Amino acid sequence: MSNMINIYLYGKKYEVPSSLTIMGAMEYAGYQLVRGVGCRCGFCGACATIYRIKGDTELKTCLACQTQVQDNMYIATLPFFPLVKQPYDIENVKPTEQIMMQLYPEIYACVGCNACTKACTQGLNVMQYIAYAQRGEYEKCAEESFDCVMCGVCSSRCPAGITHPQVGMLARRLTGKYLAPETGHLNDRVAEILRGDCEAALKDIMSKSVAELKEMYNNRDFEK
Ligand code: FES
Repeated sequence: MSNMINIYLYGKKYEVPSSLTIMGAMEYAGYQLVRGVGCRCGFCGACATIYRIKGDTELKTCLACQTQVQDNMYIATLPFFPLVKQPYDIENVKPTEQIMMQLYPEIYACVGCNACTKACTQGLNVMQYIAYAQRGEYEKCAEESFDCVMCGVCSSRCPAGITHPQVGMLARRLTGKYLAPETGHLNDRVAEILRGDCEAALKDIMSKSVAELKEMYNNRDFEK
């Protein structure tokens, strides 16, 4: 039995077990989560949260599904952050420096405060990947931003109004579409699928029991 501690959800005090995550504690307290929850495993970015520990002036950020509650934690979740998302057709843009200037010019107003990096719930070097985007180094930007879960917390702290997750997303799309080497085996596999070569195998898999599927999964071949 874990200790009971006090937390404050949207300013209201609750006593919850100390072993819970913030998300678990909210449910323990009776909240039915409809927004601000998705994968529950730290991947989807739906549960961005801000908190402050009583007596501490620092406002901290986290994912509610991945962060354990602490005594005297004041918590508010951010189920949605209004990021600026510019429309573009990836077929009609090119990986030039101009495309960032055109779609996300605010990245050039970065003041170098590093608040985005400090706020990132994934521990990414956000300011660095924005610097790569400013210089048109999209492969580096894509690599550095690869683990972004689009929670938007970085942007919530940015005095320049930069939409970091969307900038990283654009860099990853440009890299995938134009800069990364062609993946020949992927093209071959897509062609096989389009020809219907996988239909029989799919039907066979769909007819199997859960136990048989687990057995197949555990004994699958790994590509060398
Ligand atoms: S619910 Fe998906 S990251 Fe927390």
